[in-house]
Amino acid sequence: MNYTILAIESSCDETSAAVCINGKIQSNIIATQTVHQKYGGVVPELASRAHQQHIIPVVNQAITEAKITKNDLHAVAFTRGPGLLGALLVGSSFAKALALGLKIPLIGVNHMQAHILAHFIDDPAPRFPFLCLTVSGGHTQIVKVNDYLDMQIIGETQDDAVGEAFDKTAKLLDLPYPGGPLIDKYAQSGDPKAFTFPNVDMPGLSFSFSGIKTSFMYFLRDKTLQRSDFIQNNLPDICASIQHTLIQILMKKLVKASKETGIQEIAIAGGVSANSGLRKQLTETGALYNWKVYIPKFEYCTDNAAMIAMAAHYKALAGQFASQDVTPLPRMDF
Ligand code: KG4
Ligand code: ZN
Repeated sequence: MNYTILAIESSCDETSAAVCINGKIQSNIIATQTVHQKYGGVVPELASRAHQQHIIPVVNQAITEAKITKNDLHAVAFTRGPGLLGALLVGSSFAKALALGLKIPLIGVNHMQAHILAHFIDDPAPRFPFLCLTVSGGHTQIVKVNDYLDMQIIGETQDDAVGEAFDKTAKLLDLPYPGGPLIDKYAQSGDPKAFTFPNVDMPGLSFSFSGIKTSFMYFLRDKTLQRSDFIQNNLPDICASIQHTLIQILMKKLVKASKETGIQEIAIAGGVSANSGLRKQLTETGALYNWKVYIPKFEYCTDNAAMIAMAAHYKALAGQFASQDVTPLPRMDF
């Protein structure tokens, strides 16, 4: 059966809608919320309100760009979790109402699985089984992907996510939220070996990023007298060194995971996979270990509804529809 699916993403601070016809993305509209910048992080209540403002125009634009009408839809998909409860509620309530009005089924999608399935939007797609390092503002996971809907987390962070480590260190450097892309930008002209930041080596395939944040805080505290001068004079070197440290932690566990599983098809996904240093390092490490690496297009790294639509396509093919009493799950597991 050919499915025409409207997908909605509203888990954090992007309101997005996409249309997918038989597994091919026809439109992907993203409204990024800028209201959070002055608060240095996402404010959940403001995120919910901004989703409410954006959702109707974003959905209308996705449908228009796909050159269809609402009556052509076979299903409405939405991000069920993980994410902010209020933000998820806006997307899920809208999806439910629309599906009810059109008398079509609903599909609830796991946001983290969708980040991984973004690799199937365009060719070349990874072959099963593959490993995916999923790195975002809320998660850091190594996932063994056996099939489209059969995934297993084999390693994850025990505290902060790596995106959080990027954003929190950026905040200590007085950079605006989200700081990850700015660290990336300044790092490009800096020396990655200029400074070192101690971190704890976690057992197995687990990660920990809270220690780096603390050692970075002490590093800056020790420069208290001339703190702002020090930052101003060394910003590229500081950013390059922080980024290098974070990437080394990620790559070490990824190499270990590949050795332990014998899998050499390796992908990255999630907002931090937009990081130019991580993309370059993955290519280099991949060449060293003979991996086949898969790096998503920039537009599919950070939150978007095209990935939700792709996941929904595979769920529709597997007959995995949700009923009208489905609820959002802020801490949704695989
Ligand atoms: O996947 P995503 O859009 O949202 C979540 O599901 O969390 O990821 C957002 C995270 C933020 O922490 C942001 O700073 C980080 O991805 N990020 C980056 C870059 N672009 C986005 N981190 C480092 N370098 C980048 N270029
Ligand atoms: Zn995400």
